[in-house]
Amino acid sequence: MSRNDRRFTIAQLSDLHCGDLRFDDALMDNCIDIINDEEPDLVVMTGDLTLEGYREQFMQARGYLDRISCPRKTVIAGNHYCRNCGYIHFEKLFGPRRSTVRFTHSGACGRGLGEAVEVVAVDSNKSDINDGEVGRHNYDFIATEFSSDATFKIFVLHHHLVHIPGTGRERNIVWDAGDVLSVLRELRVDIVLSGHKHVPYVWPLARMYLITSGTVSTHRTRGLTPPSFNIIHIEGEEITVDMVSSVDGSRHCSTYPRWWCHERFSEYQG
Ligand SMILES: [Fe+2]
Ligand SMILES: [Fe+2]
Repeated sequence: MSRNDRRFTIAQLSDLHCGDLRFDDALMDNCIDIINDEEPDLVVMTGDLTLEGYREQFMQARGYLDRISCPRKTVIAGNHYCRNCGYIHFEKLFGPRRSTVRFTHSGACGRGLGEAVEVVAVDSNKSDINDGEVGRHNYDFIATEFSSDATFKIFVLHHHLVHIPGTGRERNIVWDAGDVLSVLRELRVDIVLSGHKHVPYVWPLARMYLITSGTVSTHRTRGLTPPSFNIIHIEGEEITVDMVSSVDGSRHCSTYPRWWCHERFSEYQG
């Protein structure tokens, strides 16, 4: 079994902002080339495909995502198109605003049985404001969709659950972040994928990793943070997050232990 057979790979990109004056299609071209070279098992787009939610902006975003060859994609809505009824175009072009994806992968958490991956995504946006909320109506959905058989659980939302360093005064953490984190912890979720803040970061919290992707294709970052996206590798008992610059493909890599791996392995052994 080759290394690529043992590990599974997620490409996470966010905040395309098609229609933005600071959008740069060369950045998107670089990202698509790198992701296609990686041949990920899953692509997750964590929201804000457009600036204003107009149909032509969604069509432009759709064109970019169609060039990513991975057939397994999870796409969620962002706050920028809860304005102007943009969610109507989102649903027509990308599907429901909450979704579940399940797949198996031959790589495994040290027990040789294959990895049962589950991805649950919800819409955290509120009409005509930038704030977010998962909402109690989604808690049962999340709990039901994640099954006890999964060996790797991924939760996806646009907004962040914890403050992201280097992004100034805090705004827009979801209103019910404490309750959401408690639900996810109870379900033993492995990673949470978010966007919105345009700056990449990884927070370890309650045996989960909260992984935020930067803006992939705009020059809406300040300071020294380049536009970027994440390539996440899960192999054996480790998770590696590569923050990849959309400008030149350079990477900042960090490796973390899989906290729930040992518990699940022990339960399997009885
Ligand atoms: Fe954004
Ligand atoms: Fe956003």
